Amino acid sequence: MNVLTMPARPYDDQRPGTSGLRKPVAIFRQQHYLENYLQAIFETVGGGANRTLVIGGDGRFYNHEAIQIAIRMAAANGYKHLVVGREGLLSTPAASHLIRKRGADGGLIFSASHNPGGPEGDFGIKYNSSTGGPASEALSQSIYARSKRIAAYRFVDEPDIDIDRLGKVSLGETEVEVVDPVSDYAELMETLFDFERLAELLTSTSFKMRFDAMHAITGPYARAILEERLGAPVGTVINGKPLPDFGGAKPDPNLVRSRSLVDFMFGQDAVNFAAASDGDGDRNMILGRKMFVTPSDSLAVLAANAHVAPGYSGGLAGVARSMPTSRALDRVAQELGIPCFETPTGWKFFGNLLDTGRITLCGEESFGTGSDHVREKDGLSAVLFWLTIIAVRGMPVHRIIKDHWDRYGRHFYARHDYEAVDAAAANSLMDALRDQVGDMAGKRLAGSIVSMADDFSYTDPVDRSVAERQGIRVLLEDGSRIVYRLSGTGTGGATLRIYLERYEARAWLHDKDARKALNDLSFAASSLAEIPARLGRERPSLVI
Ligand code: G6P
Ligand code: ZN
Repeated sequence: MNVLTMPARPYDDQRPGTSGLRKPVAIFRQQHYLENYLQAIFETVGGGANRTLVIGGDGRFYNHEAIQIAIRMAAANGYKHLVVGREGLLSTPAASHLIRKRGADGGLIFSASHNPGGPEGDFGIKYNSSTGGPASEALSQSIYARSKRIAAYRFVDEPDIDIDRLGKVSLGETEVEVVDPVSDYAELMETLFDFERLAELLTSTSFKMRFDAMHAITGPYARAILEERLGAPVGTVINGKPLPDFGGAKPDPNLVRSRSLVDFMFGQDAVNFAAASDGDGDRNMILGRKMFVTPSDSLAVLAANAHVAPGYSGGLAGVARSMPTSRALDRVAQELGIPCFETPTGWKFFGNLLDTGRITLCGEESFGTGSDHVREKDGLSAVLFWLTIIAVRGMPVHRIIKDHWDRYGRHFYARHDYEAVDAAAANSLMDALRDQVGDMAGKRLAGSIVSMADDFSYTDPVDRSVAERQGIRVLLEDGSRIVYRLSGTGTGGATLRIYLERYEARAWLHDKDARKALNDLSFAASSLAEIPARLGRERPSLVI
């Protein structure tokens, strides 16, 4: 086998964000850009000798080429065994599962999640560790540090491997195994949910659902599980063929990007249940007939009803949510008498809690829910979870939600995004808020009084690592909350996110329009941060 060492120049912009390294395709296609970062990963983890690596991606533009490069470089860096999804495909949760199932030392997932694809779109790499979870903050920082010192990268000078066919081939000393991307994952789902019961629901004439794969990775998974295994009528899965540019749309399931699915569910022909997932299959959006379930509510409902699914019938050890996620989950945890952890944004922060059995279920406002079955959020598992609750409780989505609010009260919730704003302006806006937090307590705001304000910092209870400056929290005496933070996943300028939450215990006010219920808070949040003056924007560019 011909191993070549090629000189490379280091890049200084390969700092991973909330979720791996994510950049426009054009940046990744610069000379040796991808190679540099891969070499930095391999060197940081100590090379591949006697090790197994899982490789797959969400099928976006450049996926195929990147995977061939990764295979050649992994072989040259000594990996003994590479497990590659057929056609280079693996959803993020399926990759996480495969790493765990095969006892692999890590995995490379090529994805920019919900960011647009195609030659003008984005590309990304995530490195996951042997637990199946995203690289820790410390590992990500070490990879970044090394990427700035790379002087050469290694690859084997061999032709492309045929990754469209299942089976094993040798690349010198390295065995490359091409696997079905769906089957192991589908088997895992069968251990968590009662497939017979789900099949009964999905084949009954009184129940219809729609799943929108947004031309991204969950198409093959949803077809295999919902249509083939569970018997839902063909056509239940729409936009099921993964396309390199996701059909020109942004594969991000939310009220704006999934407009047609939302309109369908609020229209005449609405079915009983609908859901969508994102580019790499880790996000989910849940809709009932004329009802949008906020991700924060969805998480709370899953926690409150977890016992109905076989995988969780023994109860939950604990739960966790990211800080900006609404506190609906906390109320459920309190009633269940289990701990509820509040972590910074980023799935990696759940890793230690899951690994040490402190939590079973976790989720985020950004359309992510998951559990200890893998170490990533998992879009399709949330869908199967919801279907299980509908089947066992025999209730439509809106009843399940209303029932939940009756019991726990409603957390009205919205996120206002100011996308692609000037990064310097956004940073100075955050600095100004940071300067104010110390003396905010006691001040009047949005018809209430500030009870506490801080810049959220988190000490991991397992390894004691500290994550600081994770977002400004402003808590009000009436139970409302405003949170400000800058997104860590964007690729152009900065995105300011403002998260608004208002608690309402009185059942007769639960049907109020969320926008109206949050109006005061929204106004207060904008003026407190001086949005128009600092960002030159009157309104958010995205409200979800
Ligand atoms: C990714 C991460 C999530 C995070 C989300 C939004 O999906 O996996 O953990 O919540 O991005 O992050 P951002 O920094 O853009 O708010
Ligand atoms: Zn994703």
